[in-house]
Amino acid sequence: MNKVHISIAIDGPAGAGKSTVAKKVAEKLKLEYIDTGAMYRAYTLKVLEKGLDPQNKSEVLSLIDDTEITFSNNHIYLDGEIVDDKIRENNVSKNVSYVSSYPEVRKKMVELQQKMAENNNVIMDGRDIGTVVLPNATHKFFITAKPEERGKRRYIELLEKNHDDLNLSEIIEDIKKRDEIDSTREESPLRIPDNAIVVDSTNLTIDEVVDLLIEFIKGDNKIVL
Ligand code: CDP
Repeated sequence: MNKVHISIAIDGPAGAGKSTVAKKVAEKLKLEYIDTGAMYRAYTLKVLEKGLDPQNKSEVLSLIDDTEITFSNNHIYLDGEIVDDKIRENNVSKNVSYVSSYPEVRKKMVELQQKMAENNNVIMDGRDIGTVVLPNATHKFFITAKPEERGKRRYIELLEKNHDDLNLSEIIEDIKKRDEIDSTREESPLRIPDNAIVVDSTNLTIDEVVDLLIEFIKGDNKIVL
């Protein structure tokens, strides 16, 4: 029996646990993991490092044809430099939703993402994966959790990375603000894709979510793993 080309789309709001879950599922099922949020973050980092205004469309777009974003050995490269840590800085988090709202930025990232998925079995997480990037994905999931819980998780994650000067209620507010921008933007807003399985992870551990997804994926008899 021929193996079916697998593409798994995971969408959901900030801090729902998508990337941790996707990484674990990728490892267990030997899939290529693609963190699309990291790509928008990398471009935002470049905008900030060049001293440009993320809310000024023409300034943001001025770099688009002159930017290279690639993944290799679980690292993300921006114009040849590994930027894994820099893209998680608070300043990038605060501005990424402005940068990712411009259709021209999205077009470039979506093209890159679709190319990555062409010849590989992939699991991809983001905001528009099941709706725009991989509308024909073999599996679609929407992972969410209450904003307070998502803020708490982000707080702990930053604390573990030795960030000081953290304020939980500010982080929750930032997350709500990002949810609002991501859900109300004109271009590819965050929404539940048709036919997606919705997982509320508020009261679930990461491993419980991972097991749930794998159960759904393996339970689908179209797929031979
Ligand atoms: O990890 P976290 O949930 O904080 O977010 P992320 O996946 O790193 O994505 C950061 C931001 O990039 C999101 O808030 C969106 O504004 C944008 N994004 C997007 O517009 N489309 C995607 N496919 C992925 C991310």
